[in-house]
Amino acid sequence: MAEKVTVADFKRMKEEKTPITMLTAYDYNLARLVDAAGIDSILVGDSLGNVVLGYESTIPVTMEDMLHHVKAVSRGTKRALLVADMPFLSYHVSREQALTNAGRLLQEGGAQAVKLEGGREVAGAIRAIVEAGIPVVGHLGLTPQSVNQLGGYKVQGRDEKAARKLIDDALAVQEAGAFALVLECVPEALATYLTKTLSIATIGIGAGAGCDGQVLVTTDMLGLWGNQPPRFVRRFADLNGPIREALEAYRSEVRSRSFPAAEHTFTMPAGVLEKITG
Ligand code: KIV
Repeated sequence: MAEKVTVADFKRMKEEKTPITMLTAYDYNLARLVDAAGIDSILVGDSLGNVVLGYESTIPVTMEDMLHHVKAVSRGTKRALLVADMPFLSYHVSREQALTNAGRLLQEGGAQAVKLEGGREVAGAIRAIVEAGIPVVGHLGLTPQSVNQLGGYKVQGRDEKAARKLIDDALAVQEAGAFALVLECVPEALATYLTKTLSIATIGIGAGAGCDGQVLVTTDMLGLWGNQPPRFVRRFADLNGPIREALEAYRSEVRSRSFPAAEHTFTMPAGVLEKITG
């Protein structure tokens, strides 16, 4: 097996200008596939709420939901650095609460790092978690847990005031000790500027090609989710169609009794049933 990816590899890859690859996973099997594909990091995102649990947003996702899925993903991950999202309100109430919840994602879940959304306002929580030896990934730009405050899923940092705030927040997250920063739905020029300015790795999603790495929601890029994906997603496969065809074929073959066939069927020695049933 190739060596486990670590936080130090993120730093090295930024310095060497080797793009870092990250994808989400939510269960054992998807994690196994993503890991075997040589992806550097697996994120158990709270996008879990949308793409697995069927919620309208990430806000209903709880610590218990996250732990359940992080445990499954960690069983399927051998090489990739496993990052777990801290769900809504699991790091805002107090630094103690933030530290306890981050610790659970490592100790019970098996993650190697946690990710949390926000800038200067969560710098204290980031610092407390990092000081306990837990690596942290920040998340700025479109932060889905704040969708009600942002007024929808929109590009962030377009005007001067918003761009200045984003830069200030990114510096605060770096200063607090995060080792990487996800930039979601940010203009390419701003994300590229941040990538050059920060010493920590930037991982873009809808932030252009200038970032140190890229992340996508795996169900979106595989075309596994029925909904229209955001504009920044490339569908590397369209699995919805073949899956639906397979399900319909099953239905029709069961109805027509062409499934199961002889090769799916078990036999028993001649005469046994006759002895029982006379
Ligand atoms: O929850 C998630 O999947 C994420 C990615 C979009 C970065 O935070």
